This record gives sequence, C-alpha cells and structure tokens, in this order.
Amino acid sequence: MTNLRERRNPAEMEVPMSLAVVILAAGKSTRFKSRIPKVLHPLAGKPMLAYSLELATQLSPTPPVIVVGPETEAEIQAWVGDQARCVVQKKRLGTGHAVQQAQPLLEGSAAQVLVLYGDMPLLRLETLRQLTTRHAAAGSGITLLSVERENPYGFGRLVRDAERRIRAIVEEVEATPEIAAIRELNVGIYTFAADFLWSQLAQVKPSPRKGEYYLTDLIALAADAGLTVESVPLSDPEEGLGINTRVQFALAAAALRRRINEQWMLAGVTLVDPERTYIEAGVTLGQDTVIHPDTHLRGRTTIGEECELGPNSVLVDATLGNRCRVTASFVEGATMEDESDVGPFSHLRKGAHICQGAHVGNFGEMKNSTLGPQSKMGHFSYLGDTTVGTGVNIGAGTITCNYDGVRKHPTEIEDGVFIGSDTLLVAPVRIGKEARTGAGSVVTHDVPSGTLAYGVPARIRSPHPLSEAAPPAEEEGVPDAERNGKG
Ligand code: UD1
Ligand code: CA
Repeated sequence: MTNLRERRNPAEMEVPMSLAVVILAAGKSTRFKSRIPKVLHPLAGKPMLAYSLELATQLSPTPPVIVVGPETEAEIQAWVGDQARCVVQKKRLGTGHAVQQAQPLLEGSAAQVLVLYGDMPLLRLETLRQLTTRHAAAGSGITLLSVERENPYGFGRLVRDAERRIRAIVEEVEATPEIAAIRELNVGIYTFAADFLWSQLAQVKPSPRKGEYYLTDLIALAADAGLTVESVPLSDPEEGLGINTRVQFALAAAALRRRINEQWMLAGVTLVDPERTYIEAGVTLGQDTVIHPDTHLRGRTTIGEECELGPNSVLVDATLGNRCRVTASFVEGATMEDESDVGPFSHLRKGAHICQGAHVGNFGEMKNSTLGPQSKMGHFSYLGDTTVGTGVNIGAGTITCNYDGVRKHPTEIEDGVFIGSDTLLVAPVRIGKEARTGAGSVVTHDVPSGTLAYGVPARIRSPHPLSEAAPPAEEEGVPDAERNGKG
C-alpha cells in the first residue's frame, strides 16, 4: 500500500471513480426480537440505517440501492423516501442473492460497487475512502475490509496462499478445523470491480451446508480468475461491529456517544462526566458550555456559548442562546434567549420562549407562551398561550386557565405587571401595563393599565398606589356577579 501511495500522485488518488453502493438490510433480524425493522431503531437520534445511508451519500452521487425484506419494505421505504431506492429480496437466499437483487438497477452505472450492511453503524467514512481508493489504485477485482479478533464466532475466515495472497473466504459453518482456527476475518464490507461482480454473481452456487448463495464465494472466483484481491485491515476493530442483538445495539450506542462526546470536548465544551452525557448527532454546542451528568440533548437542539446544562436535564429540539442555565428541567421545542435560566424542576414545552434575562424557577410550566425580557416566574406556575411583556413578576402559584374544555384562549400580560401569588387568570384576559393583582385573585375580566384587581372574582380597585397611570372611571353600583361574570 505504501508503495502504491508513493508511486501515485496523491491528488490523483482523491479523484472519485464512479461508484455505486448497495446496502444490505434484508436479513430476518430474528435475534433482535422486534416488531419494528431493526435498521430503523434509533442510535444517537437517528435510525441505524441512516449511518450507512450517509456514508453512501458521501461516497457516491448516485442514490444507493437498499435491499430489504418483504416484511420491512413499506416501513423502510417510508423512512428512506427519495434518499435511496429499495429493492425487495423476496426469499433470504444469502448475501450473494441479496446483492443480485440490486443488479438490474445498478449494472452499467458505475465502475466500482461498494457493498455495505444496514446494521453496521460504526463504520467510518475515512475507512471506506481508504477501501475504495486502494481498490481503484490497485485495479483490483475485490477489496475487502478485514479484522483480527480473538473470538471469530460468526465471521467468515480469510484464507491466504503461501504468498499471502487472499484465496477465499470460508464461512464458519463450512470451515474445516484448520480454517476455523484462522483469526483474520471478513468484516462483510467489500468493493468490487463492477464488471466482475455483475458477470460472476450468477456463477455462485448454493452453499453445501446452508444452501445459501454466499457473496463471499466471489473471493475464490476472483482469485481463480487471476484478479487481485486485497484486504484493508480495520485499524479500529469497533468499526466492524454488526448489530444482531440488543446487547450489540447498546454497545454501538455507547460507542457513538463516546465519539460525539469526544468531538464536543475537543471543540471546547466541558462534559463533567462524559459517560453520563447523552448528546444526539443533530445537536450543536457553543464553546465553554458546561454539561453536568445525566443530561440528554436530543433532536435539533442548539446551544450557545457559556451555557450551563444539568445535572438531570432533557432538552429536545431546544434553542438556547449564550450564558443560559437549565437545571434539572425539561426543555422541549422551546427557545431560551441569552442569560435566561430555568429550574430546578421546570418544564418548558412546545412554543415556550424565554426572552433575555428572564427566569423560570421551580415547578414552572410554559406552553406556547413568551416570557418577556427580565420577567420572572419563580415558583409553581403555569403559563399556556400567554404573552408576558418586559419586567413582569409572576407570583408563586399563578395559573393561566387557558382551556375551557373546548378551546384554548390567550392571556396577555403587559410590561411591568405584578401578578400576586396564587392568581388565576381566566382566559381570554388581558392585564394592562403596570397593573397588579392581589394574592388569590380569580381574574375573569381584563384589568386596565395601572389598576389593582383582587378578590374572587377579581374587581378593579384603581389606581393601585404604585401606579402613575390615570385611573379608569370607577364603576359604582354594579353587582359583582354582573361585572365579573363571563356572560
Ligand atoms: C456475513 C459474511 C461473513 C462475514 C459476516 C460479517 C456471507 C456469506 N458471510 O455473514 O463472511 O464475516 O457477514 O458480519 O456474506 N442479508 C440480506 N439477505 C440475505 C442475507 C443477509 O440482505 O439473504 C443482509 C443482512 O441483513 C445483513 C448482511 O446481509 O445486513 C449480513 O448478513 P448476516 O446474516 O448478518 O451475515 P452472515 O451471512 O452471517
Ligand atoms: Ca449480522
């Protein structure tokens, strides 16, 4: 390999030759024991299949062909959309037969055909680039990934001749004891000279023990035909982990987590305990952000710089500015501007928007609501479909009664308002600028600017002593029930 590299101009090596990719995903996945197609189980926030699909897309402009089983076709095709073409392998007659299903779609389209598995999510792009580049540079018939393992269970063995040339791959069930003792193993990932692959697949015979058409039989066919067969050993054996069981699935999840976490630490993010930090692939983080243990960052979450997250927090599709704090809280589909903070024990739901410097303390819940700049909601409150202005104080236990059993209604709380503890705001309702409500009020009507409302139901007493706003005309002689009833 070094020789080839030395002989060739490195720029030339980078030139991509036409490449088509086949992803095998038609196996029965019996050992995974799932009603959902195995390759659609999410790892670090995306289906296992997405990893192979992304590799294929990065390596070739031609959409890959995914070979799927009849039971999983609909679900896989629905997820894949137009990112790839799916073909059905009606009967599981082996990996050779599986690749053959892609032949009508790919024959004549590319000089090289790369075969990937849909259940090998730890493979790296660099590894496959090495495989395909090496293949093209050497003008080989087949180039395959190999791995050395102490435990060879389930792997095909690489058989070499006296000159160390690869002669065959022998499957475990077909192996003699001497061959079974070989520790150089077939990862299952290969790139083929397309002419050779498409002309020879039909030559593969059913295997003696299992009656399957083994893709691996092509290795002996190529060697017999005098074509070069080379291997690229995996420098990190972890990459070749195939997911057959949920035990392997958990191993892959941990490995992906480690990779993502390392990437963020190297980018300037502090993970207090990386083993207990769960960051999905679609998340972005700013420098000097600190993440405490048992924090989960999921989906399209975006975090700015110098934030402090956790411990014990879950952020899903959340957008945070700089210097925000989330402590032991859930933030889902919500936005937090710079210097805002939440928690402990609060829940920002879809459409919650916490403006700059705003504060949500303990046991707060917000849905589809904006808490204006510097506004505070410290204790035991619920805001639903509410707009809160600047510098507002929401007293402990304040609840917006936004739902009448049929429809949701909005609440508006203008700048500088002071909501007394345990106020119920029966929506639709508007609290004018710098108005106040007394503790325990049940507010069923709009409260004009600068006034004080209190009682059950709340009546307007105005102006309140701290307000400079002009008092509205005092309503005399109107019975409470009539004045405050919702009508
Ligand atoms: C295969 C290789 C073996 C290699 C091992 C690495 C063959 C004959 N053997 O083993 O040398 O060491 O992978 O994991 O290729 N699939 C189909 N249709 C089928 C059968 C399999 O699409 O009819 C797919 C599976 O979904 C899976 C992949 O091919 O993604 C490999 O199948 P699997 O049964 O896991 O591999 P083995 O045949 O045991
Ligand atoms: Ca497998």
